[in-house]
Amino acid sequence: MDKKRVLSGIRSTGRLHLGNYLGAVKGMLELQENPDYESLYMVADLHAITTPYDKEKLSENSREVVLDYLAAGLDPNRSTIFIQSKIPEHIELSYYFSTVLTVARMQDLPTYKDKVEQFKDHNTVALLYYPVLMASDILIYKASMVPVGVDQEPHLEVAREVARKMNTLYGTDFPEPERFATKGEYLPSLTGEGKMSKSIEGSYINLTDDLATIEKKLAGAPTDSGKGETIPQKGSVANLLKFVELFEGKDKRKIYEEQYLGEGIKYSLLKKDLAQAIFAELEPIQKRREELIANPAYVDKILAEGEEIAGRLARETVAEVRSKMGL
Ligand code: TRP
Repeated sequence: MDKKRVLSGIRSTGRLHLGNYLGAVKGMLELQENPDYESLYMVADLHAITTPYDKEKLSENSREVVLDYLAAGLDPNRSTIFIQSKIPEHIELSYYFSTVLTVARMQDLPTYKDKVEQFKDHNTVALLYYPVLMASDILIYKASMVPVGVDQEPHLEVAREVARKMNTLYGTDFPEPERFATKGEYLPSLTGEGKMSKSIEGSYINLTDDLATIEKKLAGAPTDSGKGETIPQKGSVANLLKFVELFEGKDKRKIYEEQYLGEGIKYSLLKKDLAQAIFAELEPIQKRREELIANPAYVDKILAEGEEIAGRLARETVAEVRSKMGL
């Protein structure tokens, strides 16, 4: 293999928000532009069904993520774009991988514990199995680089562990995949606690939000009196400053920090400017998205081609593993 491979995916739970964009999609774009890498980007619909979901909406949601990918700049001429469940070999390989992972190891993952906490009545085998399938998503393409948010690090550790064990036990040549981090990767919640997440109402801005919607969402972010002895390091005001830094630059942030320590910040003005800066970044993406919606046959063709390329690679790896495992 001459070029290194990149694989990433986002769960199809609906449209992408700014957190997905900065945490994952920007990294995908950066690696797509790098000639040393060959990139494959999927929509993780098999992972979307590990928590309760609406079966009527699943395929529509997958399509939304594909549109967001393409609108944000994923280029089918340079990246392979596909839907995970169209390559059932991911599931087959994950089963083989499950033979080298203990139940205790899976139960111990912080990501698993969080999900169980969040979905108490839905502690399924699929939830426990989530990282096994994710390891398969990556290793089935022998990908060594994975642009994802920092919260996915425990899953990458599992993938590395699987790679090592399979290589030792069966003589495969899986790489140990690394996480590729982008600069603005951790996008805080608008509410002031935790990260921007689709499951927390009022915490996120969608890539498809218009200026008025962004203004309204920012207006809902809690603030304080606007001045103080020290700059807040966490909570909603700290998060607003982080947004300013990411969308308007470090210098702008400094100006607000000086205001905070001096005459005070006028949050209504800060939020208005910030909304405009965010919208300026999203507007071209939204325009491209409209064009794509008007041309469904083009999107279908991209997915068919992606499926063809990914399927070929996946079948090769599965055949190799079956043979090396004595099946
Ligand atoms: N677990 C990832 C997330 O929630 C989504 C995902 C599934 C993924 N399979 C993957 C990411 C493979 C990278 C590589 O963000």
